[in-house]
This record gives sequence, structure tokens and C-alpha cells, in this order.
Amino acid sequence: MKEFTGRVAVVTGGGSGIGAALSHACSQRGMRVAVVDVERDAAEKVAAEINESGGEAFSSVVDVRRLSEIERLAQEVDQNFGACHLLCNNAGVLVTRPILDLEEKDWDWSLSVNLLGPIHAVSAFLPRMLSSGEEGHIVNMASMAGLVSMPHRGLGAYTTSKFALVGYSESLRAELASKDAPIGVSVVCPGAVATRIAQSERNRPKELETGQGPTPTQADPNTAPAQGRQTSEEAALRILAGVQANDAWILTHPEMKSMVEARTSALLTAFDEAAGLVL
Ligand SMILES: NC(=O)c1ccc[n+]([C@@H]2O[C@H](COP(=O)([O-])OP(=O)(O)OC[C@H]3O[C@@H](n4cnc5c(N)ncnc54)[C@H](O)[C@@H]3O)[C@@H](O)[C@H]2O)c1
Repeated sequence: MKEFTGRVAVVTGGGSGIGAALSHACSQRGMRVAVVDVERDAAEKVAAEINESGGEAFSSVVDVRRLSEIERLAQEVDQNFGACHLLCNNAGVLVTRPILDLEEKDWDWSLSVNLLGPIHAVSAFLPRMLSSGEEGHIVNMASMAGLVSMPHRGLGAYTTSKFALVGYSESLRAELASKDAPIGVSVVCPGAVATRIAQSERNRPKELETGQGPTPTQADPNTAPAQGRQTSEEAALRILAGVQANDAWILTHPEMKSMVEARTSALLTAFDEAAGLVL
């Protein structure tokens, strides 16, 4: 997607962190923005800031776990702005508990927000985007934890959801390219960005509470080494550059390349070992 001016962006998780920065960055490039979040006040604040600064935005309270709510959002965007051009599936939550301690409710919450959320949004928005015939782009927010398992304890559920989102995004991109559809797909894999992700439990629905309470995490981006930690604004700029370049993977932390190299090298070694097997 080369042109942003006059286009329509939808940003889930737009009330906080990377989503709030993306909402502002989209507006600064002349897009009209739907700021979508489960946190009403946060979404309203970001939309109000955009409108006060001369942009055009509305907020919508949507739980991305619910397909019916996303479908209602797609209608709302149609009515307010017309066809969506840039769908940013950014909403996400971090469950930090070792796999052995995870309950069904932890898996349900993590997978339903981080994986089913983007899948629901694509189901609701992509047919509309295709039928508009206009150029568009889908951004799915994964993580470096979607490319390598991170050396922090307790990221099993998060890593599972983000690896799956990377696979989904690559498949969707290939399918759309094979149809010559004018819609690009990028998956974003950031390292630490200073946001409220470590306080994700604030948004855990009552019915999915386990009584275990939040577990302190080493994966809090706010306490990650300052050298690699980015601001949401820096991440948002990199993401929009990746959209314009139609990058398959949008990476924000070049210093983490060695982690992917180490994983890839171990995988290639496993192939070499398989080739040497006598069956
Ligand atoms: N911060 C990091 O270090 C980092 C690194 C890699 C990837 N990410 C990813 O970036 C994305 C944005 O997270 P962030 O770091 O800005 O955290 P954040 O907590 O500041 O923002 C996440 C937003 O998602 C919203 N949200 C949560 N559950 C929702 C639901 N069910 N429906 C709709 N909205 C919901 C929250 O209310 C919040 O506004 C997430 O997908 C996260 O996994 C973050």
C-alpha cells in the first residue's frame, strides 16, 4: 500500500502502547482512523486527541475475541468512513505462567485475543476490502516470540499464539498474492517496546479468571535492557514503512537477528542429521 492520504485505517488495541502510536501515525499521514479497544476510556482518549489535532477518528469498544463484535465494527467503519484500507490487528495480551501451570482459561484467553482476534477481523474486513477493489494492507502484530522461543520463563502461551499468527499471516499473504489481490499482508515481530503489555491482566475477562493472579514476568518490556527497548512511536514508524514497502515480515529490533540465526541453524542441522539417517 503506497498511498496513505485519504485512506481508512482500523487499529485494534488502539487505546494503548503500539496501537495508540499507530493510530496517531496513521492520522498524521492523512488517514481516517477507527480506534478500537476493550478499554473504552483509552480508545475515546486517542480518538479525541486525533480529532483535536485536526485529524478524523472515531472510537469503538470491541472485544476482538467475539466475531459478532468485529462484524458490528466492520459495519460501523463502513457507515462512518467507507471501505477499510489498512487493517491493523494489534490487540494482544501477555499471559506469563509456565506451561505446566497454565489452565484452560489461560489458553482460551491468550489464543482467543492473540490469534482468533486477527482471524475474526480478517473474516469480517477482507471480503469488504476485496470488493472495494482498492489497494489495501493487513498488519498482524506478532512478536519476536513468534519467530523464536524467548529465553524468558512463562511465555509458552504467548509464544504459541504468536508463532501461529506468523504462520497464518504468511499463508494469507501467499493466498492473496496468488489471486493477484491488491491487498498486502505483513506480520510484525517486535522485540521489547515500552508499553502496558506486562499489565495485560487488567483486561482479562471475569469468566476467564483463574484465581492465580498475575505472575511477575521477566518479559516486561519496561524493564528490558534499555539498549534494545523502543518507544511505541518508533515501532509505529517502522511498521508504516514496512506497510509501504509491502514487507512480509516487519522487524523492529535488528539486534535480535542472531536469535533467529541460531534457531535456523539448529533447524538446518536437524535436516542434515535426517539426511544422514539410515532407515
Ligand atoms: N510491548 C512489547 O514489548 C511487544 C513486543 C512484541 C509484540 N507486542 C505486541 O504488540 C501488540 C500491542 O501491545 P502493546 O505492547 O502496545 O500493549 P498494551 O497493553 O499497551 O496495548 C494492548 C492493547 O490491546 C487491548 N486489548 C487487549 N485485549 C483486547 C481485546 N480482547 N479486544 C480488544 N482490545 C484488546 C488493550 O486494552 C490495549 O489497549 C500486542 O499484540 C503485543 O503482543 C508487544
